[in-house]
Amino acid sequence: MEVKMARRTLLWSMIMGLASFITIQVYGESSSPAAQFSGGHYREQMQKMQSMKASFLRRDLVSLPPSSISPSPSFAQAPSPSVTQSPRVYHVTSYGADPTGQTDSTEALFDAITDALEGPSDGWLMEGIVNLGGAHVDLEGGNYMITRPLRFPVAGRGNLMIHGGTLKASNNFPTDGYLIDLSATSGSEYNYEYVTLRDLMLDSNYRGGGIQVMNSLRTSIDNCYIAHFTTTGILVQGGHETYIRNSFLGQHITAGRDPGERKFSGTAINLMGNDNAITDVVIFSAAIGIMISGQANTLSGVHCYNKAAGFGGTGIYLKLPGLTQTRIVNSYLDYTGIVAEDPVELHISSSLFLGDAYILLKSINGVVNGVNIVDNMFSGSDKGVEIVQLDQRNGPFKMVDQVVIDRNNVKGMNVKATVARGSVQGNGSSWTIDLNPILLFPDLIKHVLYTLITSDRSFPNHALRNMSDNRVFIEANVAVPASVFVMADQGSSYST
Ligand SMILES: *[C@@H]1O[C@H](CO)[C@@H](O)[C@H](O)[C@H]1NC(C)=O
Ligand SMILES: *[C@@H]1O[C@H](CO)[C@@H](O)[C@H](O)[C@H]1NC(C)=O
Repeated sequence: MEVKMARRTLLWSMIMGLASFITIQVYGESSSPAAQFSGGHYREQMQKMQSMKASFLRRDLVSLPPSSISPSPSFAQAPSPSVTQSPRVYHVTSYGADPTGQTDSTEALFDAITDALEGPSDGWLMEGIVNLGGAHVDLEGGNYMITRPLRFPVAGRGNLMIHGGTLKASNNFPTDGYLIDLSATSGSEYNYEYVTLRDLMLDSNYRGGGIQVMNSLRTSIDNCYIAHFTTTGILVQGGHETYIRNSFLGQHITAGRDPGERKFSGTAINLMGNDNAITDVVIFSAAIGIMISGQANTLSGVHCYNKAAGFGGTGIYLKLPGLTQTRIVNSYLDYTGIVAEDPVELHISSSLFLGDAYILLKSINGVVNGVNIVDNMFSGSDKGVEIVQLDQRNGPFKMVDQVVIDRNNVKGMNVKATVARGSVQGNGSSWTIDLNPILLFPDLIKHVLYTLITSDRSFPNHALRNMSDNRVFIEANVAVPASVFVMADQGSSYST
């Protein structure tokens, strides 16, 4: 009931709005023509008015087909020929697209998208981006075969959705193409804003990729299933805030343990830009699940079982030595791990690493700074695989600071951490505690705390003598039976 009331109130306020605007317009016509509005503003007001009226009419005259709604005389004089009264839903079958996927639908889909992009607009979003007012290109639940990429023919558009069907590449689709391609340029800083691709299955037919987004803002890819790509499922270059949500990507349609897994290739998602998010996404086959070479991207609820590390696969590859600012949380690395090149500001937590999956820090210039790998679960098969490993083939990590690898729980794998504790008991004048089995970085201890407790009530002088090679060496002036407890840290603290 409340909903109904609210709707009625809305309707009334629309009618009131309509009335007050008509008054203004009559005044404008009888005296100075539209002088009280500055050009752009007036146009914008008219367009707002038109769409409001259109939606009002549609509500009232639902039984009439859209084409029968003709503008009333006063609105016919509106100085904006591009504005029509028809709803902005572009049904691809009315352009001749074949929903059975038997014949080539490229031209029909292209025409529908072009009409949507050239359709009526409601002012502007970002500078240079025309607001299409929420236009839809509706795939009407069909499966359409296309022979070339649906590359948007114009840029500088926003507030548009393509949804509800399947696109499949033909057998002669260009292998460097993408089924949906937002790469046209407009000369403005951004090409597109708020383009939504939703409820789509994209089948690249082992020819090329799924979606390409370039220099765009606030792109939403939601509930898509992208399969059979050979290059990249979703490629994001430049721009920011592409949000990839609730989607499934795989080169091969499989559910794990695929006999051909060794040969999986391609990258499911490649983010070559900043400030994007991947949320609740499953990647079930590809050589690399997610490749990231931009900054400040966030991954949450990502499940990668794209290609096992043992077969040469990588779940998440952070290929941006230096400032990455990537956060990976609440994710599931399933037989495939994470590789990070010289990470600076990286956070990995609350994630599950299954099947001996591990994190590899790869040295490029020898820098690791501001890295937290904490509160994760690691589970393996007792093969002695370490949960975090270093690749120092390009040279050792020389600059290690603010790195915390701790508090992970580990079953069937070997723990590695930047904080280690140890103890030793003995009757003598020196005690050595080797922390190499735990500490990740070789020969790096920045801080040590130790306690010496004698068991014979003696009170010797003792001191920390040496901690090189991750071995803590404590010496006393006399031989005593004692236990020594040590805690060492490879560089998490802000020391002065
Ligand atoms: C420790 O060693 C000394 C000789 O080095 C010996 O006299 C002493 O009994 C030992 N104490 C214990 C508790 O074993
Ligand atoms: C510390 O121990 C290493 C061998 O473990 C040795 O080479 C080095 O000289 C020692 N340093 C000192 C100050 O005793």
